[in-house]
Amino acid sequence: MAYILGIESSCDETAAAIMRDGEVLVNLISSQIDHSKYGGVIPELASRLHQQNIVYLVQQALDEAGIEGKDLSAVAVTQGPGLLGALLVGICFSKSYAYALDVPLIGVNHMEAHILANFIQDPKPTFPFLNLTVSGGHTQLVLVKSFFEMEIIGQTIDDAAGEAFDKAAKLLGLPYPGGPQIDRHAREGDPSRYSFPKADVGRFEFSFSGIKTSLLYLLRDGLKGDPDFIKKNLDDLAASYQNRIVSILIEKVEDAAKEYGVTQVALAGGVSANSQLRSAFTTMCEQNGWQAFIPSMAYCTDNAAMIAYAGYQKWKAGMTSELTLAPYTRG
Ligand code: KG4
Ligand code: ZN
Repeated sequence: MAYILGIESSCDETAAAIMRDGEVLVNLISSQIDHSKYGGVIPELASRLHQQNIVYLVQQALDEAGIEGKDLSAVAVTQGPGLLGALLVGICFSKSYAYALDVPLIGVNHMEAHILANFIQDPKPTFPFLNLTVSGGHTQLVLVKSFFEMEIIGQTIDDAAGEAFDKAAKLLGLPYPGGPQIDRHAREGDPSRYSFPKADVGRFEFSFSGIKTSLLYLLRDGLKGDPDFIKKNLDDLAASYQNRIVSILIEKVEDAAKEYGVTQVALAGGVSANSQLRSAFTTMCEQNGWQAFIPSMAYCTDNAAMIAYAGYQKWKAGMTSELTLAPYTRG
């Protein structure tokens, strides 16, 4: 029996999960809500909070799984991309713990782990499949050829999809993280009330900064005529803005799936928690006769189960890391 401990600390969530033979036993997250009052993640604060949480969180994960440290087969940890100080907390802890237990350490790429979250539940995709990764820092179209072979065929040239949601929420006076807030207001609004531009970029590239700027001007002009402009139109603004982002994402992933001739298409990353994206993605795949894969909510946003799962696959393939493992912030 293989027990894998997964640790995630790349951004503002400290997370620990335990998997037995690829099945999730425990998946814990300690969200650092302190950041919300600053309107974004403060890297130094994130690192300190990870430090406060990590030992207790891992102990709780072991307790809930009903095992002890010595039962673990390996410790998998997010190596990057992410915030340097935040990653270091998870990595330093994992190195010490793996060394003390005399089990392998396994460095995991956070973006690859988001994609592999699609394997945590049934049905699981088969290779090759196309994945649209949409998170706070990345927007990527990825051709997934195996657990370890992933080709990025296109990505954003400026803001990530999650960033576009977060920045818009900030302009609308909504708290961080903005994606779930926009999602909630959009449900009550008219998506065709306002129109937002579509960037003229490469076929499989994305650009969201123009949409954000367009919202900025729309609000500026609206507020000139009426100081309550945002309050009165919040739902329609959110719905129209979200609709533009979702339609661009769907259009690109559909085009890429046709180009690469795949019949299985998956979503990954925090923005795949978006209700409109989930339903539009499912409909688009149905219309094309493709199989759609979307992780359940707990595995869309940052979590440690996906790190443990990626670690489990690497462990089975003998792909373990040295104790000199170093974090990387980009990639
Ligand atoms: O994958 P993730 O948890 O962290 C990164 O690796 O970046 O993604 C976080 C992003 C944030 O930008 C957040 O606003 C967005 O995911 N997000 C959403 C929703 N839930 C989270 N965006 C749109 N709609 C949602 N329901
Ligand atoms: Zn993430």
